[in-house]
Amino acid sequence: MLVVSGTKLAEEIGASRSEVWRLIQQLRAMGVEIAGHPATGYQMERVPDLPLPDIVAPLVTGTRFAAHIHHFFRVGSTNAMAMQAAARGAPEGSVFFAEEQTSGRGRGGHSWHSAASTGIYCSVVLRPQVPPAEILVLSLAAGLAVAEAVHQVTGLRPELKWPNDLLINGKKFCGILTELNAEVTRVRYAVVGIGINVNQAEFPADLREIATSLRLAAGREWSRVQMGAALLQSLDREYAALENGAHADISRRFEERSPWSRGQRVRVEDEPPWEGVSEGLDDRGFLRVRSGDTVRTVLSASVRAV
Ligand code: BTN
Repeated sequence: MLVVSGTKLAEEIGASRSEVWRLIQQLRAMGVEIAGHPATGYQMERVPDLPLPDIVAPLVTGTRFAAHIHHFFRVGSTNAMAMQAAARGAPEGSVFFAEEQTSGRGRGGHSWHSAASTGIYCSVVLRPQVPPAEILVLSLAAGLAVAEAVHQVTGLRPELKWPNDLLINGKKFCGILTELNAEVTRVRYAVVGIGINVNQAEFPADLREIATSLRLAAGREWSRVQMGAALLQSLDREYAALENGAHADISRRFEERSPWSRGQRVRVEDEPPWEGVSEGLDDRGFLRVRSGDTVRTVLSASVRAV
């Protein structure tokens, strides 16, 4: 690749050579691989795999996400950012990518392990015209979108676990956290936060048994740019289906991809916990579980196979 002198860079950006040096050091600290020093000039060794707006936007033209993509190197939580932005009026389709999250949020008050530049940490702002009681289907649609994107890019076929986990070989590689600002009858805005383990080669000891990444599953690394773009494209398609009222269809397709959701003995972590056999999803996306003679609808508790 081309070697560019510090003087030329300085001229082009209207800064001093020492300022250029400082900026180069900053880029290196962010993981951008640049060889050279002020005397020899600089050479970018590898185009970094960063889902930057200028790189992702052309790959998702025609979707509602193309015009409002934001990227940050380190944030607390992209969901927190997106919720704040939505409260200030950020348009539907705003996307927040981060390289690293210092307090990534998971469901049920858990945290989301967000190591730097290995996963996709992405939140999108949506303003769906549905009452809060029907919002679950949005999360299911996001799960379908991730499954489609992963299949398109890697050829892998993830399994969905109701309501929001994606698994490969029984281990979780993606979680989705949908947060809302709503009135009783109207959702003002929703933020769908998606964490995908893409290129992690290992996990902390407490996650090792239950977590995996696409890299561990397939034995090779994947482009996060390509994966992020595929994700936004499939999310756009699934959200369009939802806007067109395809709730029952989304529930049905989720069920097809989710061996857990029918005929599986499950434990529902209610107070008190109870067990039964899953009987598929209803049209709003809630899980039905038979326990003895009655079929109960699981509204919010977590469910695990037994
Ligand atoms: C889960 O518990 O399974 C949901 C995890 C959701 C993690 C993603 S990463 C991007 C977005 N920002 C967050 O703080 N959380 C979500």
